[in-house]
Amino acid sequence: MTHQSPRRILVTSALPYANGPLHLGHIIETIQTDIWVRAQKMFGNDCRYLCADDTHGTPIMLKAQQMGISPEALIAEVSRSHQADFADFMIGFDIFHSTHSEENRRMASEVFLKLDARGLISRKTIKQAYDPEKEMFLPDRFIKGECPKCGALDQYGDNCEKCGATYSPTELKNPRSVLSGATPVERDSEHFFFDLPQMESQLKQWLSEDRVQPAIRAKLQEWFDSGLQAWDISRDAPYFGFEIPGAPGKFFYVWLDAPIGYMGAFLKLAESTNLNFADYWGEHATSELYHFIGKDIAYFHTLFWPAMLIGAGMRTPTAVFTHGFLTLNGEKMSKSRGTFIQARTYLNHLDPQALRYYFAAKLSASIDDIDLSLDDFRARVNSDLVGKVINIASRCAGFINKQFNHQLSAELNAPHLNAQLIAAAESIQNRYERRETGQAMREIMALADLVNQYIDEKKPWTMAKTPETLPGVQGVCTDGLNAFRILMTYLTPVLPKMSLQAAQFLNLPALRWQDIATPLVAHTIHAFEPLMTRIEPAAIDALLAATQQEAQALMQATPTNTEIEPKKVTIDPIAPEIDLNAFTAVDLRIALIVQAEHVEGAAKLLKLTLDIGEEKPRQVFAGIKSAYDPATLIGRHTVMVANLKPRQMKFGLSEGMVLAASQGDSGIFILSPDAGATAGMRVK
Ligand code: 2FM
Ligand code: ZN
Repeated sequence: MTHQSPRRILVTSALPYANGPLHLGHIIETIQTDIWVRAQKMFGNDCRYLCADDTHGTPIMLKAQQMGISPEALIAEVSRSHQADFADFMIGFDIFHSTHSEENRRMASEVFLKLDARGLISRKTIKQAYDPEKEMFLPDRFIKGECPKCGALDQYGDNCEKCGATYSPTELKNPRSVLSGATPVERDSEHFFFDLPQMESQLKQWLSEDRVQPAIRAKLQEWFDSGLQAWDISRDAPYFGFEIPGAPGKFFYVWLDAPIGYMGAFLKLAESTNLNFADYWGEHATSELYHFIGKDIAYFHTLFWPAMLIGAGMRTPTAVFTHGFLTLNGEKMSKSRGTFIQARTYLNHLDPQALRYYFAAKLSASIDDIDLSLDDFRARVNSDLVGKVINIASRCAGFINKQFNHQLSAELNAPHLNAQLIAAAESIQNRYERRETGQAMREIMALADLVNQYIDEKKPWTMAKTPETLPGVQGVCTDGLNAFRILMTYLTPVLPKMSLQAAQFLNLPALRWQDIATPLVAHTIHAFEPLMTRIEPAAIDALLAATQQEAQALMQATPTNTEIEPKKVTIDPIAPEIDLNAFTAVDLRIALIVQAEHVEGAAKLLKLTLDIGEEKPRQVFAGIKSAYDPATLIGRHTVMVANLKPRQMKFGLSEGMVLAASQGDSGIFILSPDAGATAGMRVK
């Protein structure tokens, strides 16, 4: 055999933004990356997995302010929570760092200075909206007003959710700062721009090799066709980030130092390992570099990032691997409701390896969205892992341990079956390499079916009943356990913990790829402990109920004025089934809206005064501001929950809830009874 030197590979997942907890949208990406990295390591390659928290920018600065803590304290806390969640999902980073680190400051400055020295940075004075009360420049999402095209109220500074128009914040009618409510003024400020257009031909050259999936390539072509633009990479103080060298009061825009954070993390790792920077990042580096990302950030990773690297005289990514969004039960996920399954909530109710397996079974090299269908999830995990793979071990272990004193037979009884299992190694390796993990899982499960058929045919439980056939049971079960060993080796990148437990049971230090073809015979094994239990519907119901509660708590607690766009990958909870008693416990009433008004400083809320036939009208804060001009609501009837426990909100006491329909971004619609219904009537 010729000796092949191992490939040297760096792999990254997108750096999660440090403004809140992880959700399953983050987890699917890190699971995909982690499976790929673990597979590479098993194949004998020198592969390192880098990640970090993405910590800079206005939203983090404002959130920390609002919490009355420093941004450093906020990101330290978030980092702890992110790392705990990732660890519990068995994400095996070689390093998890932070973009707010000395290593990253050094790299960001270095990249910037190189770009500047090569004439790729220009300075230009631009006009920008400024909040005179808060004394800061306002990002587009922090300005609201009336759409210049259709006049819709309460639209963000960059686009209209009603008519889809895009525009600049200066075009909004009656603009106001969502931070202070003040009318923004225009102010001049000098900004730094990265000259992306100058990089076009080199970018096209980079892309001409196989760097991105076909769908992303098509998207890139559109971006090229519509013309590249210089990229604004600076922000004015106050800003949480790195000050630009030689430019007091100017900071790197968060999206400049975020991808450089991959290098910052590498530097940190290099401190404790013997890695040389130029071997991995130098212009002529021969190592490989792969970025796993979601499709919402392809623009940053396939245009700006390689352009920056080329401009700074560094290596470019070998490939950027983009995945689709996560959906839940086929539903498009909702931004506005902020309802998604948090990583920790999942962990509180279900087994992380179950999700690792399900995502592995659904993932591929395409950018199609991936659906977490909870019924399918339960059925698939129960049938494949518990019913097929683990079942093989549990069917065979008892006989070996009880009848044969823990001893496997001296040779295999069915070498052809064993050979069939071994023969799949190359194809499975290939599927892992090409990120076709769904195909790999199907191939592994088809092998598990063959093994179970073999055991069904031999019927060791019948053989064990007669003294003449009893000795043959040892060989059959040795076949079964060898098959189990091979299948678990194939599944190791997906199920690392279960693989270790299987190794312990088989009395081996670990399951290794290079041992696949070496049969385990004349060997003592240990007692068998169940490796995973079936997922019960109750656990899924509990997860959904907890998610729903969190979403509600969040709506009440989150101060609305610095709320930023959550990641695009969010999940709508599905309401669990309730009985009639639970339903009748809700006191629904017809309410007459006697007053409706804006709330100072609240981005989403209107204050409603509702007559429900009681002596004193109710005051309710409803998150319907984006959909209704308050004046048009006065005099309308609607439906309210009258026995909701009053909630103390930042703006006052809310004494109930108004019912409204909404899904995703398609608007908010309050419910109205047919004509004739009057205030105070019960709704049943
Ligand atoms: O989209 C996001 O959540 C970003 N924090 C991803 C950054 S990836 C890399 F560029 F740092
Ligand atoms: Zn509009």
